[in-house]
Amino acid sequence: MSASFDFESLASAPITLKTPLPGPIASERIAAGLGHQSPSLIHCYPLWVKRAAGCMVEDADGNVLLDCQAGVATTSTGHCHPSVAAAIAQQAQTLIHICGTDFHYPGYAELCNRLSRLAPGGTDDWQVFLTNSGTEGVEAAIKLARYHTKRQNIIAFRGAFHGRSLGSVTLTASKPKYKKGFGPLLPGVHHVDYAHCSECPIGRSFPSCGVACVTEGIERNLFHHTLPPEEVAAIVLEPVQGEGGYVVPPREFLVKLREICDQHGILLVYDEVQSGMGRTGKMFAAEHFGVVPDLIVLAKGIASGMPLGAMMARKKFMSWGAGSHGSTTGGNPVCIAAALATLDLLEGGLIENSATVGAHLKAKLQAGLNPEKGVLEIRGLGLMIGVEFATHALATKVAHACYERGLLVLECGRKSIRVSPPLVITREQADVAADLFIRTCEDAAAGRI
Ligand SMILES: Cc1ncc(COP(=O)(O)O)c(C=O)c1O
Repeated sequence: MSASFDFESLASAPITLKTPLPGPIASERIAAGLGHQSPSLIHCYPLWVKRAAGCMVEDADGNVLLDCQAGVATTSTGHCHPSVAAAIAQQAQTLIHICGTDFHYPGYAELCNRLSRLAPGGTDDWQVFLTNSGTEGVEAAIKLARYHTKRQNIIAFRGAFHGRSLGSVTLTASKPKYKKGFGPLLPGVHHVDYAHCSECPIGRSFPSCGVACVTEGIERNLFHHTLPPEEVAAIVLEPVQGEGGYVVPPREFLVKLREICDQHGILLVYDEVQSGMGRTGKMFAAEHFGVVPDLIVLAKGIASGMPLGAMMARKKFMSWGAGSHGSTTGGNPVCIAAALATLDLLEGGLIENSATVGAHLKAKLQAGLNPEKGVLEIRGLGLMIGVEFATHALATKVAHACYERGLLVLECGRKSIRVSPPLVITREQADVAADLFIRTCEDAAAGRI
């Protein structure tokens, strides 16, 4: 049996449950493997994945599940896309590593040029630093913002997730467990409210509030009382919040942030680690709002699951000199080969698929769910869809029952579930996912599970 036959047969397989989940082989392997793994790993489901293709994953017992979380919104082109796998294999036979900080090699400049051309705003004047992960990209952004502005303070948002290394975890404000026990963290980080309008923390309603989270939260409360704006290096945010609940802010929120950044010489940094690379139905979520940042951080979907990230800045802000920042394996040739193949696929139709199948899936969920089924809101862009429940317990119950029925989704925010399948998901697979999800919500709301 050829590798491509294996791929096709799994990628087009239906959800198939041969055993209750987890099955006996998975249970045994998981139990046997836990002893020497860091207990910090969450392991939200007892799923032991043997192989995966497209949107389908097969576990150790031969059960086949539909993946609507994509390795936390990362396998943008689907699991093991043949073009990505071939690019990785070919590059691995030619050059695996030499170090992009010190040498030149095929792919590095090509990827940087391509990202600059694709960046929002159409200026094609961006420079790119490649990393191994999202958190490293955020660290690079923090460093560049401080270096360039010669200022220390950073404004970030409640609900944000920016990573788990010490700088990025300081900006992260989605759950206290990410910070507990790790202090002291980075000084000079100030958190304010994100424009999560359906849960407005100051009880206003948009648009009559006049974007009070910016005008009152930042301009009046911070700048007039505690934090001189001329000492702020950057405002860092996810243009669509991810782990915080798949929250889409109103465009005016980003417009106002851009205005105050321009007014005070502050850099506007978009963390598009989760929202970028076609996830929202456009290459960058920024394109939905038409508000161009000064720095962008990418990772996750950029290389279909190979460890790669990018911190990119308009040329005029990339003012640091040789040696001020670097990485041994960031921008590794094999990861770059995967990224270039990924970009070909994204531009070759997957962004379009994300927009159309995403709109279809969201509409189907909106039609089938309502507060009687425990669901308060369905929101999102493209294939970045959030479903908000009445309670955290209900969200947890539905997520777990979906897994037991062969559908993989993840929780996010205080009481939401994120639906973020690979961007190759078909309309038919989206229908299967929506039907199963809706049925599970009905069962949970009626107390049948
Ligand atoms: C918006 C955002 N930024 C940064 C990160 C950190 O990325 P990584 O886990 O690759 O370090 C994540 C991870 O979930 C993320 O969602």
